[in-house]
Amino acid sequence: MKAMISIKKDSDIEKMRRAGCIAADILDVVCAAVKVGVSTLALEQLTVAELDRHGATGPCYDYPGTSCPFPAHICVSINEEIVHGIPRKDRFIGEGDLVSLDLVVCRDGFMADSTRTVAIGEISAGKKKLLRITERALHAGIEKAIAGNRVGDISYAIEKCARKGKLGIVRELVGHGIGRDMHEAPSIPNWGERGEGERLVPGMTIAIEPMFMLGAEDIRVADDGWTISTADGECAAHFEHTVLITKKSPEILTTNKMSFLLRARDNA
Ligand code: MF3
Ligand code: CO
Repeated sequence: MKAMISIKKDSDIEKMRRAGCIAADILDVVCAAVKVGVSTLALEQLTVAELDRHGATGPCYDYPGTSCPFPAHICVSINEEIVHGIPRKDRFIGEGDLVSLDLVVCRDGFMADSTRTVAIGEISAGKKKLLRITERALHAGIEKAIAGNRVGDISYAIEKCARKGKLGIVRELVGHGIGRDMHEAPSIPNWGERGEGERLVPGMTIAIEPMFMLGAEDIRVADDGWTISTADGECAAHFEHTVLITKKSPEILTTNKMSFLLRARDNA
């Protein structure tokens, strides 16, 4: 049986907007703190302080895994690390690194999931292209996240960007529905066929998250049971937004661009 897709009501969507806005605010702060010599644990500590300040929690912490629960509130993955990097006190940001910051925020029972990959100082032309195309693929996917389209329309748009840029696609991980749970139906693969898969309807909330790599598509999992890296050591990039399906344009929930509206409603 296919898993049920949850359709959010207006009050749920309002909570997800709030969670998404907090995720964007925290990623702004953490991205600004990613500098040469900073430990990845310092980024985790900053995340915890920010979550606290916003009255939010980070459901990545204690998320069940095959070897152990995830031991942090943010995933910090550097260069060849694709996702699920565990913050450590002895891992430092270096010049020329690509650092991906993947954060899930929960407020009032609803979650929002967002990822950004940032460049530290001067990076190679290859890494620049990887960043540019992975972010472009996220927006190409979001553009197709409209009621009446199907999941495959999003997947196809993302895959097309990777093909055009001659980049590898991570096949082991996919985007997902999100709401009360971090991972809900449907899955949103980063490759697929137009017109296939679940139909998108207003009130669905999905995390779209292209993960591309410069080299071959093989991956490996580190001994910590979590960190997923490219097998050949080439760099990877990851961008993610939580998006609301509407009849018209998709609404990016993991943004703080409309925070003035949320504040105005709070004060009304
Ligand atoms: N944003 C990631 C995801 O979509 C977060 C997972 S980290 C975990 O799956 F520890 F929570 F698994
Ligand atoms: Co996600």
